[in-house]
Amino acid sequence: MTLDPRRRRLWHAMGLGPVWQERSAEATAHPSALLAADVATASQSLAPAPVVDAGDRAARIAALPWDELQQAVAGCTACSLCRTRRQTVFGVGHRQAHWLLVGEAPGAEEDARGEPFVGQAGKLLDNMLAAIGLSRDGAVPADAVYIANVLKCRPPGNRNPEPGEVAQCEPFLKRQIALLQPRLIVVMGRFAAQSLLGTDASIASLRGRVHEIDAGGRRLPVIVTYHPAYLLRNLADKAKSWSDLCLARSVCDGLDRQRP
Ligand code: URA
Repeated sequence: MTLDPRRRRLWHAMGLGPVWQERSAEATAHPSALLAADVATASQSLAPAPVVDAGDRAARIAALPWDELQQAVAGCTACSLCRTRRQTVFGVGHRQAHWLLVGEAPGAEEDARGEPFVGQAGKLLDNMLAAIGLSRDGAVPADAVYIANVLKCRPPGNRNPEPGEVAQCEPFLKRQIALLQPRLIVVMGRFAAQSLLGTDASIASLRGRVHEIDAGGRRLPVIVTYHPAYLLRNLADKAKSWSDLCLARSVCDGLDRQRP
């Protein structure tokens, strides 16, 4: 599918890149050729780009429906991570899930597979979710989670995300929250917690209670817990994470009783 010239200009002005550009038959035939096509796309962003007003870009992203949002993420060249990623990692799960889980950024396996939390940490996460009756494959919104990250591209070597990268990616997560309208958000790890809550407080001081953020005029409960990758290295804190998930479960159950 190709973009008409007007839409192409619009998307380019948003820093979203040539999203629906047709790839050659060669490029679509083999994953490594696909990677080469992505690199070619990224290198186009090295050309002087038009100055894009951040507020304007955010407002345009805030109007996109799910599929166009996903396409916009896939073609994003707004920061330098587009040059090193294999692919973007948009998110996974039911688009009406009552639960949204937010992590930091894709790692190597997620970058290769295009899905968040698919490595060892993801397996632990899936097991913890199953223990409270939830799944990323859940068919019913009440039993389903949607999983996304603050950053949609892997930082090279899994380094910490940089503020500029977070700023460029933030409108995407905000739009995912607005479209999903989850009943609650669970943030996993210091980085995601600090980004969503706009604080530099430690996980230890943030977990164990219910926070709230404003999501399109609605107050949304937020529970903070440890990152599953951290739990793999610090088994003693698994019990704390388990109690965070139980707290989240009871908050959600309370909301479900008010609004079945
Ligand atoms: N860590 C994250 O924060 N997100 C992923 O998707 C994988 C690992």
